[in-house]
Amino acid sequence: MKKDMITNVTEYEAIAKEKLPKMVYDFYASGAEDQWTLKENRNAFSRILFQPRILIDVSKIDLTTTVMGFKISMPIMIAPTAMQKMAHPEGELATARAASAAGTIMTLSSTATSSVEEVASTGPGIRFFQLYVLKDRNVVAQVVRRAEKAGFKAITLTVDSPILGRREADIKNRFTLPPNLVLKNFEGLDLGKLNKTSDSFAASYAAELYDRSLNWKDIKWIQTITSLPILLKGVLTPEDTMIAIQAGAAGIIVSNHGARQLDYVPATIMALEEVVKATQGRIPVFLDGGIRRGTDVFKALALGAAGVFIGRPVVFSLAADGEAGVRKVLQMLRDEFELTMALSGCRSLKEITRDHVLTEWDRP
Ligand code: FNR
Repeated sequence: MKKDMITNVTEYEAIAKEKLPKMVYDFYASGAEDQWTLKENRNAFSRILFQPRILIDVSKIDLTTTVMGFKISMPIMIAPTAMQKMAHPEGELATARAASAAGTIMTLSSTATSSVEEVASTGPGIRFFQLYVLKDRNVVAQVVRRAEKAGFKAITLTVDSPILGRREADIKNRFTLPPNLVLKNFEGLDLGKLNKTSDSFAASYAAELYDRSLNWKDIKWIQTITSLPILLKGVLTPEDTMIAIQAGAAGIIVSNHGARQLDYVPATIMALEEVVKATQGRIPVFLDGGIRRGTDVFKALALGAAGVFIGRPVVFSLAADGEAGVRKVLQMLRDEFELTMALSGCRSLKEITRDHVLTEWDRP
């Protein structure tokens, strides 16, 4: 497939697979263990059907929305994915430019190969910083302050990764960070010995550096080092949603880390509705995991999400065509989502209702 023949988001994966070293492609593509959740993140969308309304004037459709107080062009945003310079020399900088051009939010990973300052220097844009809490809390405080100073607007705290999930392809490939790349937000940490372990670099990195003792009390600590709102990424149950609200979370991202952590957790789209109910409208709920079509975005919004984030489509399109690839992914999802709205009879996001979709659990 040539890149100018691309007509949907998933087609970028084949180009990326051809272009990237096997070790890098596998790192981006794979999920944990049996990869059941990886497939289910996609399959679950195909079990949700539409109940479109007809004869509604859809000559004007408004896709705009407000996220954490910021107006964006559409409810489709960019999830944090690690080490984007393995995909393309411009890495996170290309992603940041593509997100700004599309008028949407980019989340920069803690384990990015570009620094918060470098991303900020690409120009204006609304950006969130994803945080992994390391054992060394001084390093954590420093990077959060740097992100805030660089104009990032929220902290996305990843709460599903006290330790890395078991990704067998990375173990087989002995995944390592290519020697020309640096984890720019934690520069100065001694990572030298991690590359030499027999497990994958990512797994040893997490095992050595992540703070496995991270718990609800630490949200208060993070609030003492930043005034930015904190989104919790990786919530899957209504129980944790209620605790998250009490702990001061400003928003929730229903996520299973792209099926890279605990295998056999449900698809995020299956977990979404119960989480939304548990918030009782107090904080916004977002979703990531398996979003590849505009119809997926619509389904998530119909089940109560305030917006969605995409992960792999960004790294694959970045690998295939750099900034232009990421721009095209955002544009294709936008166009498909707009089309879905028109064909469902919705002119604005608030007109998308629960009645526009039919789930398995609606049926008698
Ligand atoms: C991720 N994800 C992730 N999440 C996070 O909080 N910090 C990170 O550094 C990363 N890195 C990362 C790398 C790669 C290669 C992937 C595929 C995923 C998870 C990511 O933010 C998001 O939850 C999922 O990618 C969403 O699922 P899809 O869109 O990839 O299906």
